[in-house]
Amino acid sequence: MSETSKNKPVILSGIQPSGILTIGHLTGALRNWVQLQDTYECFYMIADLHSITSRQVPADLRKRTLDTAAMFIAAGIDPDKSTLFIQSQVPQHSQLTWVLNCFTGMGECSRMTQFKDKSSRQADNINVGLFSYPVLMASDILIYQADLVPVGGDQKQHLELTRNLAQRFNHNYSPTFKVPEPYIPKVGARIMSLQDPAQKMSKSDVNERSTIFLTDSDEQIRNKIKRAVTDSGSEVKFDETRPGVANLMTLYHAATGKSFAEIEMEFAGQGYGNFKSAVGNAVADYIRPIRERFVEIRNDKNRLNGILRHGAEQAGSCAMKTLRKVYKKVGFVSF
Ligand code: TYM
Repeated sequence: MSETSKNKPVILSGIQPSGILTIGHLTGALRNWVQLQDTYECFYMIADLHSITSRQVPADLRKRTLDTAAMFIAAGIDPDKSTLFIQSQVPQHSQLTWVLNCFTGMGECSRMTQFKDKSSRQADNINVGLFSYPVLMASDILIYQADLVPVGGDQKQHLELTRNLAQRFNHNYSPTFKVPEPYIPKVGARIMSLQDPAQKMSKSDVNERSTIFLTDSDEQIRNKIKRAVTDSGSEVKFDETRPGVANLMTLYHAATGKSFAEIEMEFAGQGYGNFKSAVGNAVADYIRPIRERFVEIRNDKNRLNGILRHGAEQAGSCAMKTLRKVYKKVGFVSF
């Protein structure tokens, strides 16, 4: 963090290392992170604490944590501009979580749709961590006094809880936390599964054909898009009642910058076949440089470790300032 960045508004966001990142992470989050890093002081983290709310194989988690960090940089996060770190290396997140747990109602956590979804998907492991997951997320955000949180649409409810907790704490004591705003993109906030466009595209989908991973080859990308489920019609038109085509149009827009009106004109009178091959090519062109940079960055372990170590130190010293205030306000003794 440079001296000048100290006066900039603050951003915090994160991604769980629970699988290979997908094109949804790019359009919903990473792409905006990159754009915002010149105007904000940015903290971007790999949310490994969150990921153990589902069972992880330890060696895989370690590998994917570093993969995720390398992917952040490959997508355009510049470690000289933004603070990049691993959540578990900044213990203040967990310390603040305990305090905020004591300000969160059981009802508030049980109303979270993500908790309900995940509980039904992992019925044999509905752990307390899964329940208080959004409180950890609130701590991630509030500990940096973040102004803005760039996320996809599925995180909106967690952001509302974060704002409520900040306001509650401020009201109970005195102003302590900034009340953050969500930053959700107008297009690309919810990329859907290629095989079931009613479901969100997810890194943990068991059917690999549903998901475009940022490590997929050009051929894999083209094939997945060619086989994507579309609707019974044949017109390329943006219509939310036809989510398969709408999803492919969103991907084409993300890859080319063309508006929906331009896309409709480009494919007027043509069937889905031409459209799908154009989307496949455009998405392959979009992902290729990211995949290539990823391999380079991931192979330079010393550099990557150095960036993350430095990031954790910087993040830790910022986080400590807020934690000290919070501990004092709740009445903990300090020497
Ligand atoms: P996670 O790891 O599920 O997703 C990371 C980010 O990517 C977005 N995203 C998507 N956007 C569009 N279409 C999709 N198919 C798609 N899939 C994922 C998510 O909305 C998110 O922005 N709890 C968070 C991680 C987190 C966090 C935080 C985020 C932990 N602490 C603090 C912000 C601030 C999560 O599980 O994201």
